[in-house]
Amino acid sequence: MPAVIVVGTQWGDEGKGKATDHLGVDVDLVVKFNGGNNAGHTVVIDGEKYALHLLPAGILSDGVTPIIGNGVVIDPEVLFQEIEELEDRGRDTSRLKISANAHIIPSYNRLIDRTTEKFLGKRQIGTTGRGIGPTYADKMNRIGIRVQDLFDESILRQKVEGALVNKNHLLVKVFNKRKVDIDEVTAELLSYADRIQPMVVDSSQLVNDALDEGKTVLFEAGQATMLDIDHGTYPFVTSSNATAGGACTGAGVGPTRIDAVVGVTKAYTTRVGEGPFPTELFDAEGEELRERGGEFGVTTGRPRRCGWFDAVVARYATRVNGLTDLVVTKLDVLTGYEQIPVCVAYDVEGERFDDMPVSQSAFHHAEPIYEYLPGWSEDISKVRTFEELPVNAQRYIEFLEEIARVRVSVIGVGAGREAAIVRHQFV
Ligand code: IMP
Ligand code: MG
Repeated sequence: MPAVIVVGTQWGDEGKGKATDHLGVDVDLVVKFNGGNNAGHTVVIDGEKYALHLLPAGILSDGVTPIIGNGVVIDPEVLFQEIEELEDRGRDTSRLKISANAHIIPSYNRLIDRTTEKFLGKRQIGTTGRGIGPTYADKMNRIGIRVQDLFDESILRQKVEGALVNKNHLLVKVFNKRKVDIDEVTAELLSYADRIQPMVVDSSQLVNDALDEGKTVLFEAGQATMLDIDHGTYPFVTSSNATAGGACTGAGVGPTRIDAVVGVTKAYTTRVGEGPFPTELFDAEGEELRERGGEFGVTTGRPRRCGWFDAVVARYATRVNGLTDLVVTKLDVLTGYEQIPVCVAYDVEGERFDDMPVSQSAFHHAEPIYEYLPGWSEDISKVRTFEELPVNAQRYIEFLEEIARVRVSVIGVGAGREAAIVRHQFV
C-alpha cells in the first residue's frame, strides 16, 4: 500500500493542511519531513478552527500516528505549547512520535534570525523569525543540536559550547548583543529532555516498517516548491527542501517506496515575505482578492501578497516534484469574477518564456502574459461533484490541468473538511 507525498506548489499556504487532513482519514501515519514552526496550517473540523505550526496536521485525525521526521527543526517550547493547546481542547496527542535525529532550535537561533534580518536592511528575506534558517545552517555546519543530544548532559554541553564559539563572537562583536551563557542554554535544553523522551523514535525505521506492513503513509511538506532551498526563488526561500525529494531525505525512506506525489495549489497565488512574484496584484485588485480569500498569515498574521494563478510556476512544480496529482484549493474565492486571468508565460524584456527562466534576474523582471478565462457567478460551496460545477468553473480547472500537465484530483470549494470535490483517488 501506498506512500503519498503532499507538497505545496507555490509559495506556501496552499491549503496542504486541509488536503492532508482530508486524506488523513484513511492514512495510518503522517510524517512531517522539513521545516519547523515557520509553517502554519489552519484546519477546520466540525466548525472548530485549529491553527498548527509545528505539529503535523494528521494529529487531528483519530487513529493516525503523527511523526516529526529527521528533516524537521523543533522548537521545544512551541512543541509543548501546541500539545497542551490541543489536549486542553480534548484532542489526543499521545500518538506523536519524534525522530532522534531531528534538530532542535535553541533560543539563540531565534535571536540570530531576527538580528540577521535587521542587519540585512533592504535585502531582508522576510523570515518568520523563528530561528529556522540559523538552525539549518548549524545542521550543515555540523554544529547543530539534535533531539538525541538532550539525553546526554556532557555531550549536550560540548555541543552547545561548540555552537557558541563563533556565535558569541558574532553576537557581541558584530551585533552588539549580550553573550549567550553556555550553562543557561544547556540547562534550558536539558529541561526538555524528560518530556520529549517518551516520544523519541527512529522515524526511518518506523516509517519503513509501516510501509512493509502495508500501511498508508502520508509525507506532509512544510512551506512549498517556490520556497525550497534548491528549487525556489533563492535567496527568498526557506532553508529546507520543501519539494518531494525532501520527503526521502527528511524521513529516511528511499524514492523507490513512493507511490504518489500530490501537489497542492490555490486557484490563484499568494506569498508572504519578500521576493519576486510575477502575477502579484497591487492596490484595489490585490486587496479584493486578499479580502475574498481571507489571506492573512497563520503564523505571523501578515497580510499575504495576492495574485492570479501562475501556470509557469505550476508546470515547474509538476516537473521538480514529479507530481502525479494536483489539489486545487479555494476555487470558491474566484466566484463572481467576470473573467479570470491565468498567467501562461512570462515576458522578459521582449522575450517569451513558457517555462521557468534559468536566471534569477529574468524571473525578477518577468511580466505575466495572461489568458482570460470566463468566470462564473453561482455559489459553488455546496457542490460535491465535478459535473455540478458551473461549466466555466469546469473549464477553468481543465485549463489548469492542461497547462500544468497534471490531473486535478481534488478541488476545494470552501473552508470545511467536507467542502471538496474528489475526482480521482490519489493511488
Ligand atoms: P523562514 O522559513 O522563517 O526562514 O522564512 C523564509 C521565507 O519563507 C519567508 O519569506 C517566509 O515568509 C516564508 N515562509 C516560511 N514558512 C512559510 C509557510 O509555511 N508559508 C508561507 N511562507 C513561509
Ligand atoms: Mg501556512
